[in-house]
Amino acid sequence: MDEPTPSLVELEKQTAFGKRELEEILNGFSRSFRHGLDKDENTMIPSFVCRLPTGTETGTYLALDLGGTNLRVAAVTLLGDGKTEIEHKQYPIPEELKNGDAESLFNWIADGTKSLLDLPGVKAKIADKELYMGVTFSFPIKQTNIDKGKVMKMGKSFNVSGLVDHDVIELLRDAFDRQEIKVNIPAIVNDTVGTLVAHAYKDQNTIVSIIVGTGTNAACIVESREIKKHVFKPNFPQTMIVNTEISLMGSDFLKRTKYDKILDSQSSSPGFQPFEKMVSGLYLGELVRLTIVDYVKNLNLFGGVLPGGMEVPYSFTSIQMSNIESDKSSNPENLVKVLTEDFKLPKDSLSNEDMLKVRELVKRYSHRSAQLSAVVAASLIKFQCGDIKEIEREVRIAVDGSVYHHFNKYSFWMAKTLREIQDVKEDKKVKLVGIKNGGCIGAAIIAMLYSH
Ligand code: BGC
Repeated sequence: MDEPTPSLVELEKQTAFGKRELEEILNGFSRSFRHGLDKDENTMIPSFVCRLPTGTETGTYLALDLGGTNLRVAAVTLLGDGKTEIEHKQYPIPEELKNGDAESLFNWIADGTKSLLDLPGVKAKIADKELYMGVTFSFPIKQTNIDKGKVMKMGKSFNVSGLVDHDVIELLRDAFDRQEIKVNIPAIVNDTVGTLVAHAYKDQNTIVSIIVGTGTNAACIVESREIKKHVFKPNFPQTMIVNTEISLMGSDFLKRTKYDKILDSQSSSPGFQPFEKMVSGLYLGELVRLTIVDYVKNLNLFGGVLPGGMEVPYSFTSIQMSNIESDKSSNPENLVKVLTEDFKLPKDSLSNEDMLKVRELVKRYSHRSAQLSAVVAASLIKFQCGDIKEIEREVRIAVDGSVYHHFNKYSFWMAKTLREIQDVKEDKKVKLVGIKNGGCIGAAIIAMLYSH
C-alpha cells in the first residue's frame, strides 16, 4: 500500500538530523568501515597507493579522469611549492557512449587524449620526454595492484557492454595503441583517491577526501594490516589509501523517506548505492520532483495541477535546485523561471505559499545531503584518529564535486554539522577544504610517484 504523504513539517522531521541521530549514523558508518576492511569486497577497496607527495616534486605528468558526466584529460605541471598548473580539455560524455560498448568509449577517450597532446602549450611541455599518465576512474574497481583493476558494477546510469569485469588500463592501452599514442600508464585510481593525493600535495595534513558531485564517495588512509580481507606481501608499506565506496553503505542504518524508496525502486539499479541516492547530484533533483508530484496529487500543491513536463523522471535537475537555492528570499526569480519557463506552470497559478513550499523542499534535500556528507567526514576522522572531539593534530578534509561547490550554503551547512558533531563552536584543528579538479591533479601526481 502507498505510504501516506508527509506534510512539510513531517518531512522535515524525517530529513533533518539532531545530535543523537547524527551520532547513530556515524556509528553505522563505523560498523560498515570495519565490515568492509574485514570481508566486504565491494567497500573499503585497497588502492595500492602507499606513497604521498611532499609538495616539492616537479615535472609535467598527464592525467585522464573519466567521471559520471565528463571526461577530462590534462597535462599537470607540478611547480614544487604545493602549487600546480593544469592545461586540460573537458568533454561531456555522450549518452550513447554511456550505453554503448567499451571499444567505442575507449576510442573516444583516445581521441580526446590526442587532442590534448596536440595543444601547442602541452606539446612544448612534453616534447622529447617519456610520458606518464595517471588514470582516475569514478566507478568502483576491484584493484589487485596500482595499475590493475577490473570494473565492478557501474552506477550513475552507465551501462557499457564489455566493461564490467574488464581491466581499464588494458582497454585504454589497446585504444591508445590503435591511435599510436605513446604513454606509460603506471596507475589507476578512484577519483576520491586522486583528490586526497592532490590536496596532500598542498597540505600534508590531508587524511580524508570526499566527493559530492554526480556521485558520492570518500577515501581515507588506513594501516595496511587493518585490511584483514587482503593478504599483502611481507614488507608491504604500512599505510595505504582506501577507497571506501561509501555510496554502497547505509541500507541497514539510514532512515529513508517515502520518496527515497520510490526513487530507488524506479531507478536502473534498485538496492544499489543507497547512500549515493540520498546525497548526490544525480538524484537530488529527482527526490524534489517525486515529492512535488505527490504533493500536487495529495496536498493540493499548485491547485492540484502538475506543471507541464514535471511528469518526466529526472526532469528536475540539481542545477535547477542550486539556482533556486541561490535566490534571495525577497526575490524568488530563479524559482519562478524554473516553474514557469523550464516547466509549464501558468504564472497566475503560482501562489506565494506554493513558492515557499517548493523552496523548502529544495532546501530539505540539499540540507540533508550536506548533513550526511558531514557525518561521512566525522566518521572517517574518528576512524583514523580514534576520536572526533579531542583531536590533537591538524586534519584537512579535501572536498570536491559539483554539489559541494555550486549548491548555495552546502559547504556552510556541512561545516556547521561537522562542528555540531565535534561539540565545538568554531573550526579548530579540523577543516573542510574545497578543491577543484582533484581527480585529475591527483592522478598526475600518482603517476609521478609511481613512475620509478
Ligand atoms: C562511484 C565512486 C565514485 C563516486 C564519485 C560513485 O558513484 O561508485 O567510485 O568515487 O561516484 O564520483
